[in-house]
Amino acid sequence: MLHLQIENLTKVGRLHGISEASFRSYCERKQPLVKKVFSLKSKPGYAFLTLPDAEANLKKIKKYVKEQEKNNWKNIVVLGIGGSALGSIAVRDALKSEFSKGPKLYVLDNIDPAYTAELLDNLNLSRTLFVVISKSGTTTEPMIQYGLVKEILMKKFPKNYQKHLVFVTDPKGGLLRKIAKSEKITAFDIPPKIGGRFSVLTNVGLLPCALSGMDVGNLLKGAREMREAIKRSKGMNNPALALAAAQFILHKKKKKSMTVLMPYSNYLFRMGDWYRQLLAESIGKGRGSGPTPINALGTTDQHSQLQLYSDGPNNKFFIFLRLLKHAKDPKVGNVLPDEISFLNGKKFSKVIDAAYLGTSKALTRRKHPNVTIEVPKVDAKAIGALFMLFEFQIALLGLLYKVNAFNQPGVEHSKQITNENLKK
Ligand code: PA5
Repeated sequence: MLHLQIENLTKVGRLHGISEASFRSYCERKQPLVKKVFSLKSKPGYAFLTLPDAEANLKKIKKYVKEQEKNNWKNIVVLGIGGSALGSIAVRDALKSEFSKGPKLYVLDNIDPAYTAELLDNLNLSRTLFVVISKSGTTTEPMIQYGLVKEILMKKFPKNYQKHLVFVTDPKGGLLRKIAKSEKITAFDIPPKIGGRFSVLTNVGLLPCALSGMDVGNLLKGAREMREAIKRSKGMNNPALALAAAQFILHKKKKKSMTVLMPYSNYLFRMGDWYRQLLAESIGKGRGSGPTPINALGTTDQHSQLQLYSDGPNNKFFIFLRLLKHAKDPKVGNVLPDEISFLNGKKFSKVIDAAYLGTSKALTRRKHPNVTIEVPKVDAKAIGALFMLFEFQIALLGLLYKVNAFNQPGVEHSKQITNENLKK
């Protein structure tokens, strides 16, 4: 199970941090919000809480994946953007490396002209299944990708291009649903009460990940266990409440207007992209709301951003992800010269962990508030638990900031202007 370490919030002192007594009493006062979020679980947005229990849908996915075995897909390509893409990328990068077996998962979440063409030119299309994901079915990016891919497939496989396509979209509305019906293309549902950035545990994330061989059942299990842990734990021992409370107090009272999420693991890095959208689109509403999310990777960004974090403006709150057990753990050979011979024979896990400890200590000494989420190991359960922890934290932040965490009027506005310009 994940564990949230919060003692550095206190260690940085009162000017930039929070005393234990006041943090404890704040979390106790805000405890009713946890109950409130649970009580709203049948409402639009908050329904993300019900996703770990969607057993019937999981069965449908497994059945479809089994049926697809006969096609021997080598590539699964997601066409989608934002909430329809970032979750799959986070899961893929955590659970499947470029060296793993099974179909490769590509997520085409941009419309870069050259990259799009290069990818399509280099895929063996006979062995490729395209998963077109759009809740609205009207987003320009996945729709133009679909327009390109469909024409290529129709030319190459005039009799059965549909075999190479599967949609994930709204159960009733939207263009993709209409196309699916008229052209007999298999389509999976996105539950209407779930917003894009909260949809990783629906078919949006589960279907492409299952198709490329990942353990999606345990993603749901991890999310379910975290949800139950959030339900039973109280006050500052409640990880979602403590995380939300720390972020809110530090932003509103201590001027920490940015949140840096810094995993010490390549496998967890793209979780930062997913969290960046979740925080930015959910809480960035109105002047004075929403801390700006920043991604960083340990140890890589110690050699890129740490100077600023350490000696620059004290306006950031740090969330470290510390991995306790690495899947593989090579050792340094006994070949280094005297000057750095203290590194000889050391396991890489020891060195990366020492770097995390050094950085969190150094930032604490310089009064930069930080917390650490300890992740026992990178597996499907841990990733599912992280999704649930952060989604619950954001639901709580919505209540603390008094904003609707589940809409995105700014994004819709830009989509509308882009389309108007393209129509001209
Ligand atoms: O979180 C959101 O709602 C957005 O980021 C959407 O996921 C994104 O704009 C894509 O929308 P759609 O799935 O309708 O194509």
